[in-house]
Amino acid sequence: MNIAKTIEEVRSQVNSWKKEGYSIALVPTMGYLHEGHVSLIKRAANENQKVVVSIFVNPIQFGPSEDLASYPRDLDRDKILCEGAGANLIFAPEASEMYYVDAQTNVSVNGLTNGLCGAKRPGHFNGVCTVVSKLFNIVCADKAYFGEKDAQQLAVIKRMVRDLNFPIEIIGCPIVREADGLAKSSRNNYLSTDERTAALILNKSLNSAKELLLTHEKSAENLTETIKKQIQSEVLAKIDYIEVVDALSLTAIDLIDKPVLVAIAVYIGKTRLIDNFIWQSK
Ligand code: PAJ
Repeated sequence: MNIAKTIEEVRSQVNSWKKEGYSIALVPTMGYLHEGHVSLIKRAANENQKVVVSIFVNPIQFGPSEDLASYPRDLDRDKILCEGAGANLIFAPEASEMYYVDAQTNVSVNGLTNGLCGAKRPGHFNGVCTVVSKLFNIVCADKAYFGEKDAQQLAVIKRMVRDLNFPIEIIGCPIVREADGLAKSSRNNYLSTDERTAALILNKSLNSAKELLLTHEKSAENLTETIKKQIQSEVLAKIDYIEVVDALSLTAIDLIDKPVLVAIAVYIGKTRLIDNFIWQSK
């Protein structure tokens, strides 16, 4: 399978596919692929005739004190995983191919980005929306696949596509987990053995919250407290946020009487991990 490094190469391949009448999917990633990414690629390959996977560690979505330099990279391994999952083309540009040095345009979504990761990572979603818009314009796919693991990102991209009339359909895909419940993430690679065990507290605390919801708990505060207590019992864990928000607007709620997103971000040592679930009361 070909790895395109330039926008021109991608455009020329996609144009020839379009002439043949093929449906085209895009799976945007930052590489160091795992089974979460692979599930997106497989689904894209099932639902489309051609699949483009972008692999680009997007510098503008990282804050100054974040892990851009150390973000794991392994293009050879990624290529094998892409091939196995049914991808047809990898787009792996250098930053200089993606960004003009004098670029003056960015895409920002307001409101939905105010809380959760948006509040904790200023500028992050501007970086995400800008790169995803560029990828949409470069690949011109019919559908793009995103994981529910990044629930706020998925909501923001859907809103951006609606608001700016991008001619693309956004498909959300379920969270893929390790056998012990930890959500798969390229950042799990940073964890030491002790931290890897400690990281289980994310999924465990969310499961406790689900159990409480099954007893018809309606108080967002009680839910938050339950999660907080669990996470605080793990010495290697430090809470970044615990949020119970309206699943559509992502605004804080007190009473759980409609679909809610329960989302957490937790530092395990120096590694920041996220997890979430959506709850629909019956
Ligand atoms: P990255 O973190 O590489 O994730 C790429 C896609 O894989 C995202 O849509 C993410 O939600 C999905 N994903 C990651 N872990 C997953 C899991 N355990 N289960 C299911 N899906 C999972 O998200 C980004 O890259 C970037 O922000 C990007 C959208 C590529 C823009 O740079």
